Amino acid sequence: MANISGSRRRRPYASALLLLTALTTTGAAYAVTTSAIANPRTSEVTAAQIQEGKRLFTEGCSSCHGLAGQGGSSGPSLIGVGAAAVDFQVGTGRMPMAQAQVQAMRKDPVYTQAEIDALAAYVSSLGAGPGVPDPSQYDFSNANVARGGEIYRLNCSQCHNYAGKGGALSDGKYAPTLMKATPKQIYEAMITGPQGMPVFSDAQIPAKDKQDIIAYIDYLQNAPDPGGAALGRFGPVTETVFLFTAAIGAVIAVTIWIGAKSR
Ligand code: HEC
Ligand code: HEC
Repeated sequence: MANISGSRRRRPYASALLLLTALTTTGAAYAVTTSAIANPRTSEVTAAQIQEGKRLFTEGCSSCHGLAGQGGSSGPSLIGVGAAAVDFQVGTGRMPMAQAQVQAMRKDPVYTQAEIDALAAYVSSLGAGPGVPDPSQYDFSNANVARGGEIYRLNCSQCHNYAGKGGALSDGKYAPTLMKATPKQIYEAMITGPQGMPVFSDAQIPAKDKQDIIAYIDYLQNAPDPGGAALGRFGPVTETVFLFTAAIGAVIAVTIWIGAKSR
């Protein structure tokens, strides 16, 4: 008897301990995750990568941006633009620019991702700037699409259109369609503000809200064509007609069968 009551008394104590353990584990996991977010990938840059980046830069970029990235008559200074700007500009094929244009256009990238990483490492060695975002920063699996839509309409739609299809700006410039941008590129565009686009700092749009925006753009990219709506209404009609015919057919068949039996 003493044994049973003893174990009964211990139970709430045990569950409290379990709760404490769970809380500690969650806290530890959270700390690990947030510290991973706080560390940009720049820490993984090697000297060899910077060396390779410098070589690629001299060959492909220095004619416009200067031998030390200081800028020249046909390109701005890249000192302090950061790895994110290089990853965005070269990753979207905007750079290297073929010739002086009003605006660099998105095209197939000329460099491999390894070469882009090297170029980014070299440019960020010239002066600190925003680092390439960590995948956890643009992961939108837990993001709120509806909220993202609200933030998008407040901050992005005036240039990129409500449906993300892009639109014209002044002086022959334009805001491009967002249908081809990857989550990483969307994040990078927000933190670097390419050309006519403003920079959206974490003070203006917190990291969580950026993920909501990415989720919304992903939704726009995968949303069914609005023209499909009419066909969508067609579907149930076709199904009803089919079911109606089948049901009537079955009733007729049963009627004939009953008629045949009663003869
Ligand atoms: C023909 C000239 C030209 C070449 C070659 C060129 N760029 Fe550019 N680059 C420009 C011009 C002009 C701009 C500014 C206009 C724009 O952003 O569209 C620019 C902008 C940039 C920016 C954005 C700077 C910022 O303030 O955010 C980056 C980063 C960049 N270039 C990197 C590169 C890299 C890396 C290469 C080589 C792979 C390269 N560029 C080759 C002309 C050039
Ligand atoms: C004032 C107008 C303006 C606003 C506001 C604006 N953008 Fe942009 N955006 C631009 C322009 C212009 C470019 C093209 C820059 C270039 O070609 O170098 C661009 C480029 C982009 C790209 C690159 C697209 C691609 O396929 O390469 C993305 C992604 C993007 N913007 C997302 C956003 C998001 C998200 C917001 C809101 C948080 C936003 N923009 C707000 C003007 C704007």
